[in-house]
Order: sequence, then C-alpha cells, then structure tokens
Amino acid sequence: MRSSSSKNSKSDMRIALGSDHAGFELKEDLRAFLTERQVEVLDLGAFGEAPVDYPDVAMKVAEKVSRGEVERGLLICGTGIGMSIVANRFAGVRAALCHDPYTARISREHNNANLLALGGRLIGKGLAREILKVWLETEFQGGRHERRLSKIGELEAKRGSRKKQSMGRG
Ligand code: RB5
Repeated sequence: MRSSSSKNSKSDMRIALGSDHAGFELKEDLRAFLTERQVEVLDLGAFGEAPVDYPDVAMKVAEKVSRGEVERGLLICGTGIGMSIVANRFAGVRAALCHDPYTARISREHNNANLLALGGRLIGKGLAREILKVWLETEFQGGRHERRLSKIGELEAKRGSRKKQSMGRG
C-alpha cells in the first residue's frame, strides 16, 4: 500500500484473496477495505456462505503467489490454521497466521511473509483491518533475516529435487 500522500493513486500491489464459508464475511469486509485503498484484488472465492473446503481455496490463492502472478495472498478460514497449513506447502510461499498487529509486523520485517492468514471466527473486522494495514505497510528488514530465508529456500529446493527423484523411480 502506498503512503497517505498517494492515497488516491492505484497501488502497484496485487493481492489474491480467498476464504471458506467461515471466513467469508471477513473476506468481504477486507476486500472492500483493499478496494477503497486502490489495491488490485483477485477474489478467488468463496462467493457465499455455503460450506466449502478450505484446501480448495487455499490452493488457488497460494498457487498465484507461488507463480508470482500476484505479490501477496490473503486467506481466511475459521481459525486461519487450515489455510496456513495448505499455503505453506507451495514453493516460495511464506504464509503467516497473525492474530494481532505485532505478529503482522514481525511476519513482514523478519519473515518477509507474502501471504497473510486470518481467523474469521477469532478476530473482529476492526482488528482484522488493522492487522492487514500493518502487514501491507511494513517492509522486510533483510540483513540477517535474508540469510535465514535463504535456508528455507535451500530446504525447499532440496526437498523438491528429492521428490522428483522418488517419482522417477516409480
Ligand atoms: C470450518 O469449520 C473450519 O474447520 C475451517 O474454517 C478452518 O478453521 C480450518 O482450519
């Protein structure tokens, strides 16, 4: 999100968002919040309160982030736990489940989180908006955190090539 001086100009950040039925109401509110701030959103469902399985939506959003088709992702289920479990299986996705502005800030400064998971049954709309605002406005600090994230990247690469080898043995 841009600074308040350019509040009316379009943000260059694209966010894919999704929820299951338990996160639907909060997703709708946060989509409005993002749109008001000129952030481009790609809403991948749910589109109502009928029950949907959270992995189905999490996969769609996480895939967009993993492929670099959007800069960030936002996923909401009842607790945010299921969404973060699924999202973190995608290469390059660093999903953070945040319940307060502090964890939102640190998830950006230290972890360079590119996907925010929220619990729609745990937090109210005001707090959720505050968490999202902090998360969008906080920059990654780099430095020693960069080294730590590289280790996650190396682990991902190693595990990916092992998986390919074992599939090849079929
Ligand atoms: C749905 O009842 C609930 O299990 C889901 O929204 C989520 O909390 C899973 O982690």
